Amino acid sequence: MAYKIKEMKIIMESLIKESVEDFKSTFGPKDHYYWALAPGRVNLIGEHTDYHNGYVLPFAISLYTTAVLSPNDTKIVNIYSKEYNETHSFSLQENFIKKDKWTDRLEGLIRDLLKSNKTFMGFDVYIGGDLPIGKGLSSSASSMAAVGDVTAKFYNINYEKLTFAYALQKAEHIYGGVNCGLMDQLAILLSQRDKVLFIDCLNLKTENVIVPDNWAIILIDSGVKHELASSEYNKRQSECKRFIDIIKKTKPSINTLRDVSYIDIAQILTEIDDKTYKRVVHVLSENERVLNMVKALETSNMKESFTNLVNSHLSLKFNYEVSAPELDYLVEQACLIKGLIGCRMTGGGFGGCTINLVEKDSVKDFINQMSNKYRSYFNKEAWIKEVYPVEGLTNGIWKNI
Ligand code: GLA
Repeated sequence: MAYKIKEMKIIMESLIKESVEDFKSTFGPKDHYYWALAPGRVNLIGEHTDYHNGYVLPFAISLYTTAVLSPNDTKIVNIYSKEYNETHSFSLQENFIKKDKWTDRLEGLIRDLLKSNKTFMGFDVYIGGDLPIGKGLSSSASSMAAVGDVTAKFYNINYEKLTFAYALQKAEHIYGGVNCGLMDQLAILLSQRDKVLFIDCLNLKTENVIVPDNWAIILIDSGVKHELASSEYNKRQSECKRFIDIIKKTKPSINTLRDVSYIDIAQILTEIDDKTYKRVVHVLSENERVLNMVKALETSNMKESFTNLVNSHLSLKFNYEVSAPELDYLVEQACLIKGLIGCRMTGGGFGGCTINLVEKDSVKDFINQMSNKYRSYFNKEAWIKEVYPVEGLTNGIWKNI
């Protein structure tokens, strides 16, 4: 999976340079700029398990959000987003007013980070980069990480990465209304090059697992926006909570699905409805698949990888019910192509991308075949991209020389 160090360094440097230039044309030149480069994230396996204290295996990808910040000598914060081609301004001296748009999470996060500061120092932030939004690659968590990081650096606030991840998650809960787990934030902050990040969400212990050198990772966008995702996401949490409430009556020590075994389920089979049963079975079986996948990567075992990735997809489709027909089609078709090691939908679901592990020698042919299949089925061009596991967020100060 060797990531192309030189090429990636050049891409990263040019993204920063381009964003500083864009900052200048948006807000005018300054003598120095705080910058952060936050990658997007993809989950190899362990879907809808993080908020049940389970196991996940995500990684940061070679597509980034950039944030460039410079002070503006006022008490106003101006945030410009290249993607939305829009500037949002707010005064640090006035209270937060929710607007129900992209700016809420960022403004809320900035206010949270600065809430114990006595001095108001206004600033301008430019948000750019090459991470596409709406493809389930965590562009929201990535932009929050980048903007949060430059804000903290400018205000000289030193965070441990874990504390920062919690701050990002809290802002997503409060200002985004999605009760997400911590997977995206940790992947964006802690990932390492060429490796996936195994996280035990019970104790947040992490381990970096290397991806075999001759395996490539290909993303295919279904083209379906995951609009249902936030409402259905919170719904899945209450559905699983129903199970916890029932089982607690006989086993009060159980607090999350991580404490539940198949024997526990068997004992209350008649008390739970089919939907609750399926949700819980997904989470328990997905946790097992993550552990199996870690072993499969360590031993370069293609068959085990295939079994676990495809079974994950099927469980998300039939048990957790968060897939979409377009994602199912892409998975079925990918399975017909020689060189496929495994594939599944990735992320919260209802749209977004599939992740495909493919033997390196077959990458070109795989992309060709999937592009053709996509074109004839969807009647448009596919967004298909080979991505590399990269290091998490990086930052620095850019000075005009
Ligand atoms: C979203 C959330 C994550 C995780 C995934 C599903 O990306 O932000 O915390 O729950 O969905 O695995």
